[in-house]
Amino acid sequence: MTAQQTQLQLQYLPPDLKPELLPQHVAVIMDGNGRWAKRQGMPRIMGHKRGVDALKDLLRCCRDWGIQALTAYAFSTENWGRPQEEVDFLMTLFQRVLRQELREMVKENVQIRFVGNLNALPSTLQTEISRSVAQTENNRGIRFTVATNYGGRQEIIQACRAIATKVEQGLLQADEIDEAIFEKHLYTAGTCDPDLLIRTSGEMRLSNFLLWQMAYSEIYITDTLWPDFDRSQFHSALRVYQQRERRFGKV
Ligand code: IPE
Ligand code: IPE
Ligand code: MG
Repeated sequence: MTAQQTQLQLQYLPPDLKPELLPQHVAVIMDGNGRWAKRQGMPRIMGHKRGVDALKDLLRCCRDWGIQALTAYAFSTENWGRPQEEVDFLMTLFQRVLRQELREMVKENVQIRFVGNLNALPSTLQTEISRSVAQTENNRGIRFTVATNYGGRQEIIQACRAIATKVEQGLLQADEIDEAIFEKHLYTAGTCDPDLLIRTSGEMRLSNFLLWQMAYSEIYITDTLWPDFDRSQFHSALRVYQQRERRFGKV
Protein backbone atom coordinates (compact mmCIF):
# COMPACT_ATOMS: atom_id res chain seq x y z
CA MET A 1 0.00 0.00 0.00
CA THR A 2 1.33 3.47 -0.82
CA ALA A 3 1.68 6.10 1.89
CA GLN A 4 -1.20 8.00 0.30
CA GLN A 5 -3.48 4.95 0.41
CA THR A 6 -2.64 4.45 4.08
CA GLN A 7 -3.47 8.09 4.79
CA LEU A 8 -6.78 7.76 2.93
CA GLN A 9 -7.65 4.67 4.93
CA LEU A 10 -7.10 6.75 8.05
CA GLN A 11 -9.82 9.24 7.15
CA TYR A 12 -12.06 7.77 9.84
CA LEU A 13 -11.25 6.66 13.37
CA PRO A 14 -9.29 3.41 13.01
CA PRO A 15 -11.40 0.46 14.24
CA ASP A 16 -8.83 -0.58 16.85
CA LEU A 17 -9.30 2.72 18.70
CA LYS A 18 -12.13 3.05 21.21
CA PRO A 19 -14.02 6.32 20.77
CA GLU A 20 -14.86 6.43 24.48
CA LEU A 21 -11.18 6.26 25.40
CA LEU A 22 -9.95 9.04 23.12
CA PRO A 23 -8.14 11.95 24.74
CA GLN A 24 -10.33 15.05 24.80
CA HIS A 25 -7.34 17.33 24.51
CA VAL A 26 -4.06 16.56 22.74
CA ALA A 27 -1.00 18.81 23.05
CA VAL A 28 2.00 18.58 20.71
CA ILE A 29 5.59 19.77 20.92
CA MET A 30 6.35 19.93 17.21
CA ASP A 31 10.07 19.33 17.39
CA GLY A 32 12.67 18.28 14.81
CA ASN A 33 11.96 20.59 11.87
CA GLY A 34 15.58 21.71 11.67
CA ARG A 35 16.97 18.17 11.76
CA TRP A 36 14.44 17.05 9.17
CA ALA A 37 15.62 19.75 6.77
CA LYS A 38 19.27 19.03 7.45
CA ARG A 39 18.74 15.36 6.61
CA GLN A 40 17.25 16.38 3.28
CA GLY A 41 20.19 18.71 2.65
CA MET A 42 17.94 21.77 2.92
CA PRO A 43 18.07 24.91 5.07
CA ARG A 44 16.29 24.71 8.47
CA ILE A 45 13.48 26.98 7.34
CA MET A 46 12.31 24.35 4.86
CA GLY A 47 11.66 22.09 7.83
CA HIS A 48 9.41 24.76 9.35
CA LYS A 49 7.49 25.04 6.07
CA ARG A 50 6.91 21.30 5.97
CA GLY A 51 6.05 21.39 9.64
CA VAL A 52 3.04 23.57 8.85
CA ASP A 53 1.68 20.88 6.51
CA ALA A 54 2.04 18.27 9.25
CA LEU A 55 0.15 20.50 11.68
CA LYS A 56 -2.64 21.19 9.20
CA ASP A 57 -3.14 17.48 8.70
CA LEU A 58 -3.06 16.72 12.41
CA LEU A 59 -5.74 19.34 13.03
CA ARG A 60 -7.98 17.78 10.35
CA CYS A 61 -7.25 14.32 11.70
CA CYS A 62 -8.26 15.34 15.23
CA ARG A 63 -11.48 16.74 13.84
CA ASP A 64 -12.14 13.63 11.70
CA TRP A 65 -11.52 11.30 14.63
CA GLY A 66 -13.57 13.25 17.18
CA ILE A 67 -10.91 14.86 19.37
CA GLN A 68 -12.19 18.09 20.86
CA ALA A 69 -9.06 20.14 21.44
CA LEU A 70 -5.55 20.38 20.00
CA THR A 71 -2.81 22.63 21.37
CA ALA A 72 0.39 23.08 19.37
CA TYR A 73 3.65 24.61 20.57
CA ALA A 74 4.72 26.88 17.74
CA PHE A 75 7.24 29.25 19.36
CA SER A 76 8.65 29.32 22.87
CA THR A 77 9.81 32.31 24.90
CA GLU A 78 13.29 30.79 24.53
CA ASN A 79 13.10 30.54 20.73
CA TRP A 80 13.90 34.28 20.42
CA GLY A 81 17.48 33.17 21.07
CA ARG A 82 17.69 31.58 17.58
CA PRO A 83 19.44 33.32 14.66
CA GLN A 84 17.53 36.46 13.64
CA GLU A 85 16.81 35.16 10.10
CA GLU A 86 15.15 32.05 11.51
CA VAL A 87 13.03 34.06 13.97
CA ASP A 88 12.01 36.48 11.20
CA PHE A 89 11.16 33.60 8.89
CA LEU A 90 8.97 31.97 11.53
CA MET A 91 7.06 35.19 12.30
CA THR A 92 6.40 35.76 8.60
CA LEU A 93 5.42 32.12 8.14
CA PHE A 94 2.90 32.26 11.02
CA GLN A 95 1.38 35.40 9.59
CA ARG A 96 1.11 34.00 6.07
CA VAL A 97 -0.33 30.66 7.16
CA LEU A 98 -2.93 32.36 9.35
CA ARG A 99 -4.04 34.57 6.49
CA GLN A 100 -4.17 31.65 4.05
CA GLU A 101 -5.95 29.21 6.32
CA LEU A 102 -8.51 31.49 7.97
CA ARG A 103 -11.29 30.95 5.44
CA GLU A 104 -10.84 27.18 5.65
CA MET A 105 -10.90 27.26 9.46
CA VAL A 106 -14.10 29.29 9.47
CA LYS A 107 -15.67 26.82 7.05
CA GLU A 108 -14.48 23.79 8.99
CA ASN A 109 -15.88 25.15 12.27
CA VAL A 110 -12.45 25.40 13.94
CA GLN A 111 -12.17 27.75 16.91
CA ILE A 112 -8.62 29.10 16.96
CA ARG A 113 -7.05 30.61 20.07
CA PHE A 114 -3.55 31.70 21.01
CA VAL A 115 -1.68 31.37 24.27
CA GLY A 116 1.51 33.21 25.13
CA ASN A 117 2.76 36.75 25.50
CA LEU A 118 1.22 37.99 22.27
CA ASN A 119 2.02 41.67 22.85
CA ALA A 120 5.68 41.02 22.10
CA LEU A 121 4.94 39.61 18.63
CA PRO A 122 5.32 41.74 15.48
CA SER A 123 2.26 43.99 15.16
CA THR A 124 1.38 42.62 11.71
CA LEU A 125 1.22 39.13 13.21
CA GLN A 126 -0.87 40.42 16.12
CA THR A 127 -3.35 41.80 13.58
CA GLU A 128 -3.72 38.39 11.89
CA ILE A 129 -4.06 36.73 15.29
CA SER A 130 -6.86 39.07 16.39
CA ARG A 131 -8.65 38.64 13.08
CA SER A 132 -8.53 34.86 13.16
CA VAL A 133 -9.64 34.70 16.81
CA ALA A 134 -12.53 37.09 16.20
CA GLN A 135 -13.73 35.31 13.06
CA THR A 136 -13.72 31.86 14.63
CA GLU A 137 -14.81 32.62 18.20
CA ASN A 138 -18.36 31.37 17.66
CA ASN A 139 -17.23 28.16 15.97
CA ARG A 140 -18.05 25.12 18.03
CA GLY A 141 -16.01 22.45 16.24
CA ILE A 142 -12.51 21.57 17.38
CA ARG A 143 -10.73 24.07 19.62
CA PHE A 144 -7.28 24.72 18.19
CA THR A 145 -4.84 26.55 20.45
CA VAL A 146 -1.49 27.80 19.18
CA ALA A 147 1.21 28.52 21.75
CA THR A 148 3.18 31.44 20.34
CA ASN A 149 5.81 33.26 22.38
CA TYR A 150 4.66 30.90 25.08
CA GLY A 151 6.58 29.89 28.19
CA GLY A 152 5.07 27.98 31.09
CA ARG A 153 7.06 29.94 33.66
CA GLN A 154 6.15 33.27 32.08
CA GLU A 155 2.48 32.23 32.11
CA ILE A 156 2.64 31.37 35.81
CA ILE A 157 4.36 34.66 36.65
CA GLN A 158 1.78 36.73 34.75
CA ALA A 159 -1.00 34.87 36.58
CA CYS A 160 0.68 35.63 39.94
CA ARG A 161 0.92 39.30 39.03
CA ALA A 162 -2.73 39.49 38.02
CA ILE A 163 -3.79 37.79 41.25
CA ALA A 164 -1.47 39.97 43.38
CA THR A 165 -2.99 43.07 41.79
CA LYS A 166 -6.48 41.89 42.77
CA VAL A 167 -5.30 41.30 46.33
CA GLU A 168 -3.74 44.79 46.41
CA GLN A 169 -7.01 46.27 45.20
CA GLY A 170 -8.89 44.40 47.90
CA LEU A 171 -10.85 42.34 45.33
CA LEU A 172 -9.48 39.06 46.67
CA GLN A 173 -8.12 37.76 49.98
CA ALA A 174 -4.81 35.89 49.92
CA ASP A 175 -6.33 32.86 51.63
CA GLU A 176 -9.05 32.64 48.97
CA ILE A 177 -6.47 31.78 46.29
CA ASP A 178 -6.89 28.14 45.30
CA GLU A 179 -6.23 26.03 42.20
CA ALA A 180 -9.50 27.04 40.57
CA ILE A 181 -8.80 30.76 40.98
CA PHE A 182 -5.23 30.32 39.82
CA GLU A 183 -6.31 28.48 36.67
CA LYS A 184 -8.67 31.31 35.78
CA HIS A 185 -5.62 33.56 35.43
CA LEU A 186 -3.69 31.29 33.10
CA TYR A 187 -3.83 31.80 29.32
CA THR A 188 -5.59 28.46 29.08
CA ALA A 189 -8.52 29.46 31.35
CA GLY A 190 -11.65 27.57 30.37
CA THR A 191 -9.86 24.71 28.54
CA CYS A 192 -9.45 21.28 30.09
CA ASP A 193 -5.88 20.11 30.73
CA PRO A 194 -4.20 18.05 27.99
CA ASP A 195 -4.83 14.33 28.38
CA LEU A 196 -2.01 13.44 26.03
CA LEU A 197 1.25 15.21 25.21
CA ILE A 198 3.08 14.13 22.07
CA ARG A 199 6.66 15.22 21.47
CA THR A 200 8.44 14.39 18.25
CA SER A 201 12.16 14.03 17.49
CA GLY A 202 12.94 11.93 20.55
CA GLU A 203 13.69 14.70 23.03
CA MET A 204 12.51 13.76 26.52
CA ARG A 205 11.74 17.12 28.02
CA LEU A 206 8.91 19.63 28.38
CA SER A 207 10.88 22.69 27.21
CA ASN A 208 8.71 25.03 29.30
CA PHE A 209 5.40 23.92 27.73
CA LEU A 210 2.15 24.00 29.79
CA LEU A 211 3.97 23.30 33.06
CA TRP A 212 0.91 23.75 35.26
CA GLN A 213 -1.56 22.10 32.90
CA MET A 214 0.43 18.91 32.31
CA ALA A 215 0.55 17.75 35.90
CA TYR A 216 -1.29 14.56 34.89
CA SER A 217 -0.95 14.38 31.12
CA GLU A 218 0.19 11.12 29.57
CA ILE A 219 3.43 11.65 27.67
CA TYR A 220 4.23 10.01 24.34
CA ILE A 221 7.60 10.57 22.72
CA THR A 222 8.46 9.42 19.23
CA ASP A 223 11.75 9.61 17.32
CA THR A 224 9.85 10.70 14.20
CA LEU A 225 10.74 14.26 13.22
CA TRP A 226 7.79 16.66 13.16
CA PRO A 227 7.44 17.08 9.35
CA ASP A 228 7.11 13.26 9.10
CA PHE A 229 4.45 13.00 11.82
CA ASP A 230 1.35 11.81 9.95
CA ARG A 231 -1.97 10.09 10.66
CA SER A 232 -0.44 6.68 11.03
CA GLN A 233 2.01 8.07 13.60
CA PHE A 234 -0.86 9.71 15.43
CA HIS A 235 -2.74 6.43 15.30
CA SER A 236 0.20 4.73 17.05
CA ALA A 237 0.30 7.45 19.72
CA LEU A 238 -3.41 7.02 20.43
CA ARG A 239 -3.06 3.25 20.56
CA VAL A 240 -0.38 3.60 23.23
CA TYR A 241 -2.47 6.19 25.08
CA GLN A 242 -5.47 3.86 25.18
CA GLN A 243 -3.36 1.20 26.87
CA ARG A 244 -2.24 3.51 29.65
CA GLU A 245 -3.80 3.33 33.05
CA ARG A 246 -4.41 6.84 34.33
CA ARG A 247 -4.38 6.74 38.10
CA PHE A 248 -4.16 10.41 39.16
CA GLY A 249 -2.38 9.40 42.34
CA LYS A 250 -4.97 6.81 43.36
CA VAL A 251 -4.64 3.02 43.41
C1 IPE B 1 10.65 22.84 16.17
O1 IPE B 1 11.69 22.37 15.36
C2 IPE B 1 10.06 24.13 15.65
C3 IPE B 1 10.30 25.32 16.49
C4 IPE B 1 10.93 25.34 17.63
C5 IPE B 1 9.78 26.57 15.97
P1 IPE B 1 13.19 22.83 15.64
O2 IPE B 1 13.44 24.06 14.85
O3 IPE B 1 13.45 22.93 17.09
O4 IPE B 1 14.01 21.62 15.01
P2 IPE B 1 15.31 20.97 15.60
O5 IPE B 1 14.98 20.55 17.01
O6 IPE B 1 16.38 21.99 15.56
O7 IPE B 1 15.57 19.80 14.71
C1 IPE C 1 10.33 23.34 21.82
O1 IPE C 1 11.29 22.95 20.94
C2 IPE C 1 9.60 24.55 21.31
C3 IPE C 1 8.74 24.34 20.14
C4 IPE C 1 8.52 23.21 19.55
C5 IPE C 1 8.07 25.52 19.67
P1 IPE C 1 12.82 23.45 21.07
O2 IPE C 1 13.55 22.84 19.95
O3 IPE C 1 12.84 24.93 21.17
O4 IPE C 1 13.23 22.85 22.48
P2 IPE C 1 14.67 22.48 23.05
O5 IPE C 1 15.54 23.66 22.83
O6 IPE C 1 15.15 21.29 22.29
O7 IPE C 1 14.42 22.16 24.49
MG1 MG D 1 14.08 21.63 18.51
